[in-house]
This record gives sequence, structure tokens and C-alpha cells, in this order.
Amino acid sequence: MRIVKAALLAFVFVGGVQAAEDPQVTRGRALFADAKVSAGNIACANCHPNNGHTDNKTYVGIGVVADGDAQGRSTPTLWGAGRRSVYGWAGNAPMLEGNIRGIIVNRMKGAEPAPETLAALAAYVRSLTPPLTGNVEEDGTPADKAPAAVKRGFALFTGAGGCGACHVPGSFDKAQLEDVGTGGPFKVPALWAVSQTAPYFHDGRTKTLEETARLMWEAAAKKNGKPSSPTAAQMSDLLSYLNSL
Ligand code: HEC
Ligand code: HEC
Repeated sequence: MRIVKAALLAFVFVGGVQAAEDPQVTRGRALFADAKVSAGNIACANCHPNNGHTDNKTYVGIGVVADGDAQGRSTPTLWGAGRRSVYGWAGNAPMLEGNIRGIIVNRMKGAEPAPETLAALAAYVRSLTPPLTGNVEEDGTPADKAPAAVKRGFALFTGAGGCGACHVPGSFDKAQLEDVGTGGPFKVPALWAVSQTAPYFHDGRTKTLEETARLMWEAAAKKNGKPSSPTAAQMSDLLSYLNSL
């Protein structure tokens, strides 16, 4: 019996190690940090440093522009990017591989990437799961042990704030574009790790999560035909929840 258990443990252990060392992911991580994918212009990791996080800057091509520049696009985090409903602020890339190809060829001015390069980069990006804070489950619901403010914030997110209609809990995005009065239809961004991804919106126009959440509350209320602003207490609870993602 003891031997069987030991064998089982060894199997699980080896299985775990193999999963952590998927050669595609290892290769993808190296390519991610290598400017050779763009003929030496720049590496993915320059703009998405710290294992796929964002450098919190707004770009046209590979040049940094002022946050809020109408042509600029804010760098999204890649944490959780393996399971977006759609890619790019314009929401025009249904697949991760196609999105990465576009970035290499159009943004980074690199040569057409080999299919193996795209597959390895996509495998690496898919391995970047968001760092969970412990207050929220993977489906977006508050954990039992979460502070009461987080639970109230979730109730506002799915209730009075109307956020959940677009930022569907779990993925916190959706495939259809939405026009929330920011200059046209844009993709609904996923909100995992959102406390760390300022500046916000497609062009990086807002600096704080509070300002962003207030604008979103007012836009959602207006869309629903009942204009309102969040009270100070509602904003505080909503931020407790958003900061837990
Ligand atoms: C010059 C900075 C820069 C570099 C280099 C860069 N990115 Fe990005 N990345 C961005 C910006 C800005 C966006 C948003 C662009 C848009 O949607 O118009 C983005 C978007 C993405 C997205 C879509 C995420 C989402 O939620 O829609 C993925 C995936 C991605 N980048 C992966 C990569 C990979 C892989 C590389 C290297 C091949 C790379 N990026 C290189 C700045 C950069
Ligand atoms: C009608 C759909 C819709 C509703 C309802 C909605 N959002 Fe959004 N949200 C969007 C879209 C679309 C964007 C991107 C707009 C842009 O980039 O210009 C966005 C952007 C955001 C961002 C910026 C994220 C980033 O990475 O830049 C945050 C934070 C946010 N929403 C939170 C909320 C909260 C909190 C609520 C509820 C009070 C809410 N949203 C309600 C569609 C919606």
C-alpha cells in the first residue's frame, strides 16, 4: 500500500514538473525577451515586462506618447491574456496567434514570423495566469474569507453599478465591442490585476482606478436610462472589489 502511494506521489510530482517545463513555454519566454523577433527593433518584454505585465505606458508604434493621446494605445497586461474573448483595443483579433502576428509585423516592424515562433509566443502568453489576491475566486465571486467591503463591492459590480453586463465575471470581458462614450466602440477590457494596469482606457486617458470606475458607473447608468453617480460609500466598496481582482 505504502509503495503504491509513493509511486502515485512520484507520478504526480513528475507530472507537475513536466507541466511547469513545457518546452513551448520555455521557448516562448526566451523569444518574448529577444529583440530578434523584430529584426532587433524591440522585444515584447520591453513593453510587457515582469513576466507579461504592462509597462504602464501609451504607445504609437514603438514610440511612447502622452497618456490620453487620441492615436495612442495603452499597453494591456498579459496576465490572463490567454483567455481573452477578443484581442486588441479595436477588438479586431479573435485569436491570440493572429494578434501576436499583427504586433510583430505592424507595431514592431519585424519580418513575417514562422508558425513555430507564433506558437511558442502564444504558449508563453497562455501560461501567464493572473496573480490571484485570494479575496476573489477564479469565477470572480468573492472568497468566503473576503472582507465585507469586497462582498458589497461585488454586489454593486453585478447590481446597481451594472458593470457585470459588459465585464462578465470570470473573464471580465466579452467578445462584442461597446461604445461607452470614449470616442467610439472599443473592446471591453478584462479587469484581472486592474489595480496595477494604469493608465486606463484605450488611450490611457485616466490615471486612477477611482476616476475610471466613476466614469464607468456614470456611463453605465446613462446607458440604462437612469443617470446616477456612485456615493462615496459605493465607490469605496466598488474599489475594494476591483483592488481584489
Ligand atoms: C512597443 C510596445 C509593445 C511591444 C514591443 C509589444 N507590445 Fe503587446 N501590446 C502593446 C500595446 C500598446 C497593445 C495594445 C494595442 C492595441 O490594442 O491597439 C498590446 C497588446 C498586446 C496583446 C493583446 C492583449 C489584449 O488583452 O488584447 C497581446 C497578446 C500582446 N500585446 C502580446 C505581445 C507580444 C507577444 C509581443 C512580442 C511579440 C508584444 N506584445 C510586443 C505594446 C507592445
Ligand atoms: C456597456 C458596457 C460597459 C459597462 C456597463 C461597464 N464597462 Fe467598463 N469598460 C467598457 C469598455 C468598452 C471599456 C474600454 C473603453 C475604452 O478603452 O475607451 C471599459 C473600461 C473599463 C476600465 C478600464 C480598464 C483598463 O484596463 O483600461 C475599468 C476599470 C472599467 N471599465 C470598470 C468598470 C466598472 C467598475 C463598471 C461598473 C461601474 C463598468 N466598467 C461598466 C465597457 C463597460
